[in-house]
Amino acid sequence: MAGELSPIDKAKFVAAKRAAQYVEDGMRVGLGSGSTAAWLVRFLGESVRNDGLRIKGVPTSTRIAELAREVGLDIVSLDEAKWLDITIDGADEFDCDLNLIKGGGGSLLHEKIVAMASDQMIVIADIGKEVESLGNFPLPIEVIPFGWQTTQALVEETLISIDVLGRQSTLRMNGHRPFITDEGNHILDLHLSRIGNPRQLAMVINQMPGVVENGLFVDICDAVVIGFSDGRVEIRDINAGTVETDRLDFAETDNLFSDLS
Ligand code: 5RP
Repeated sequence: MAGELSPIDKAKFVAAKRAAQYVEDGMRVGLGSGSTAAWLVRFLGESVRNDGLRIKGVPTSTRIAELAREVGLDIVSLDEAKWLDITIDGADEFDCDLNLIKGGGGSLLHEKIVAMASDQMIVIADIGKEVESLGNFPLPIEVIPFGWQTTQALVEETLISIDVLGRQSTLRMNGHRPFITDEGNHILDLHLSRIGNPRQLAMVINQMPGVVENGLFVDICDAVVIGFSDGRVEIRDINAGTVETDRLDFAETDNLFSDLS
């Protein structure tokens, strides 16, 4: 079955499989969103069913919560868990300092809150997500629906004085309607091409009224597990300054693939 995965999905698969090794019995685990995080949730479900792993998961989106329940994970709210041992999540881009762009799936607000409430945040990604400078992937910002066009105009105007290449923004759509986040907000995607100073941009954007949160994760990620389509993984730990390599097979166990919705 794994042979039917695309090269990118194979890379995501092995990154998630390797990152599942970070999760130990008794941990409170932040569950990221997106297709790579979905693999992780399936691997954790398998460990719960087959090896008796006992963890409490805090999902970052309604979609990942549904999958987590389906595969048998014990789900609690962040307020119940209070503090997490680890969060494992995907990313849309990461740079050499492990700064990230997240929010391609629209869950950046919950993802950032959960990551910030964790002892460590591990990113799982295929090698295609690595960039020299962030910004080629449109930067999502979550804005409240009230006056969103005014917020958009303010954001674009403010970008004039910021070190970015582009400053167009688009309202994210879901068919013919605006995309709605789990908090009932809209997403503006900023087409910046290159972000010169992610830390400064993140602070400036968050100061604007109407903006709830931005998809830049600066100094939040502790390590990235990078997957390659041939089964190789590379683990870069920014705190330890180490780079480790590993190789995993695609052998599935149990009914990992039948959980795919
Ligand atoms: C969702 C996210 C995802 O982690 C990001 O979009 C990566 O997704 P995928 O693993 O499907 O490539 O930030 O808001």
